[in-house]
Amino acid sequence: MSLPTPTSTTRAVVTGASSGIGVALAEELARRGFSLILVARREDRLCALATELNRRFGIEAEVRAIDLSDRGERGKLCDELAARDIAALCNNAGFATYGEMASAEPARERQQVELNSVAVHDLTLAVLPGMLERGAGAILITGSTAGNQPGPNNATYAASKAFANTLAESLHGELAGTGVQCTLLAPGPVRTEYAEAAEAPNLDRLVPGPLWVTAEQAAAQAVAGMSAGRRRVVPGLFAKVQTVSGQYTPRVLIGPILRSVYRKVK
Ligand SMILES: NC(=O)c1ccc[n+]([C@@H]2O[C@H](COP(=O)([O-])OP(=O)(O)OC[C@H]3O[C@@H](n4cnc5c(N)ncnc54)[C@H](OP(=O)(O)O)[C@@H]3O)[C@@H](O)[C@H]2O)c1
Repeated sequence: MSLPTPTSTTRAVVTGASSGIGVALAEELARRGFSLILVARREDRLCALATELNRRFGIEAEVRAIDLSDRGERGKLCDELAARDIAALCNNAGFATYGEMASAEPARERQQVELNSVAVHDLTLAVLPGMLERGAGAILITGSTAGNQPGPNNATYAASKAFANTLAESLHGELAGTGVQCTLLAPGPVRTEYAEAAEAPNLDRLVPGPLWVTAEQAAAQAVAGMSAGRRRVVPGLFAKVQTVSGQYTPRVLIGPILRSVYRKVK
């Protein structure tokens, strides 16, 4: 169980490849010789990355500028991927919202569930049969430490990432011995455009600087984990502490603690 050997016809798919961890995942895979399918909404950024990776690594990079939270657009991509030789799928696109759910914008919350959970499920369902038939393939699902425990004032995100975390680790067990494998990337704080997308600029200041990891560090560890057939990759010491405390602190304590932290996010 590891990453298949790249060929001229196989592709590695990276969603959320216009920013942050997705850009770094694409670069890490290109360095290993994978030709890519880059997915996100901002076409200009995807095209610039495709050109750069082609120049630096000599790989082919195709661009699919789509909104993955839109079922119609996503369905067309799923049909395409099901018919192609996909060696690796990095389900990475996602965003968060903070604040009380009752005052959140319902459409934005629904979009979050569609992107962080339903799209991950759909894309995985699309590529799995082909990977199993070929007896080779690697899937990465970017969950979060936020999915390890309840997240009051971050409820939709925490729930969507609980789905992603559990799906990844369940599939990892289910796929044992098939030649196909699934790895969970469950980061803590990573410096990307995440805070901006969450409309929470003070997130950057709530967590002290040394506790952040870079997108490049997270992606390097993620791809190494895919290559080694690992169940879960948690980049950085702070995220590892968050993981243990999230899983083993009694719910009656961790819920109020996180609520008081997330209430400060603006
Ligand atoms: N940064 C952190 O602290 C952190 C911690 C734990 C987990 N994560 C997870 O890591 C993943 C990557 O996030 P990041 O930190 O790299 O944040 P980011 O820099 O904001 O990147 C998010 C990516 O998702 C794409 N995306 C957002 N909405 C989309 C949509 N509707 N359709 C298609 N693509 C969409 C964005 O592209 P477009 O806007 O161009 O569509 C962008 O490429 C996410 O799943 C996030 O939840 C991040």
